[in-house]
Amino acid sequence: MTSTSGHYPIERRSGEIERLRMQGAAMAFDAGLMLDRIGVQPGWRCLDLGCGPGGIIDLLSARVGATGRVMGLDADPAMLAAARQWAEAQGLANVELVRGDAYRTDLPGDAFHLVHIRFLASTAGQVDDLLREALRLTKPGGVLALQEPDIETLNCYPPHPAWQRLKNLLSEVFGAVGGDVQLAQRLYSLLRRRGLADVQYRPFLVGVTSGDAMADFLPQTIESLRGTLLSKALVAEAELDAALAACRRHLADPDTVSTTYLVAQAWGRKPV
Ligand SMILES: C[S@@+](CC[C@H](N)C(=O)[O-])C[C@H]1O[C@@H](n2cnc3c(N)ncnc32)[C@H](O)[C@@H]1O
Repeated sequence: MTSTSGHYPIERRSGEIERLRMQGAAMAFDAGLMLDRIGVQPGWRCLDLGCGPGGIIDLLSARVGATGRVMGLDADPAMLAAARQWAEAQGLANVELVRGDAYRTDLPGDAFHLVHIRFLASTAGQVDDLLREALRLTKPGGVLALQEPDIETLNCYPPHPAWQRLKNLLSEVFGAVGGDVQLAQRLYSLLRRRGLADVQYRPFLVGVTSGDAMADFLPQTIESLRGTLLSKALVAEAELDAALAACRRHLADPDTVSTTYLVAQAWGRKPV
C-alpha cells in the first residue's frame, strides 16, 4: 500500500481477502437491513470508503439499479483488483472501483446520496478526519452511514483462556496503533455531535457454531495482525502460536459456539 492516512495494522497476507469476504457474507443480511432502513433508492450515487475486496458494494449495486452508481474506494491495489474481479463476475455494471486515501480522497464534494464506511474508522483510527472527509463527500440531505465494532461481545462458550488471550491481544494491538475496537459504543454520539440530523442506531451480532465459515475468524484475524503484534512486542511468537493452536482446538469442538463483536450501525442526514 502507498502512504495513506490512518494506521491500518492488518496485513494483506494470503487469506486476508477471503477473511474479509467471509466476514462480509456473515454480515450481509444485517447490512441489507440497514440499507433498507436508510431507504436507498434507484438512481442514487453511493460510495463505500475502504471497501476492501467488496464491502457492501453488491448490496448497494442491487438497490441503486441501472440508473444509479456505486463507487468503492480503497488504498490497497490488491484489494481493488479483487473487488473488481468479484464485481465483474457478478455482472455489477453500475460499479466503479478507485484507488485513494479515504481520509483525503480528492473526489468532488457534495456528490453522493450515501457515503458508507465499515471497519475502517475502528481499525485505522483518526476518526474525526475520516468523518470530516466522508461528510464533505455527502450531498446536503444525503446519508452518512458507519458500521463499527465493539469487541466486548467477542466471546466463546464455553469460555477458554486461549480465546481470551487472543481477544485481549486484539484489543491491545489496535490500541497500540490508535484504533478503537470499541468504537461502536460512541458511534451514535459521534454522528450526533457532527451535526447530522435524524441519527439512527442499530446494533447486531452474529452467532457462530463450529461448522460455520466464521468459526476460525478470531484466529485468522490474529494471523493477519501477527506482524504488528510482534513488532509492537505485545506477545512472543511461541506464545502466540500456542494460543492460536489451543484456541483452534477449542473452536473445532462441535459443542463450542461463539459470538462476533457487536456491530453498531449508525447513520444520519447531512443538514441541507
Ligand atoms: C477491515 S477492512 C474492511 C473492508 C470493508 N469495508 C468490509 O467491511 O468488508 C479495511 C479496508 O480499509 C482499507 N484502508 C486502510 N486504510 C485506508 C485508507 N487510508 N484509505 C482507504 N482505504 C484504507 C484497507 O486496505 C482494507 O481494505
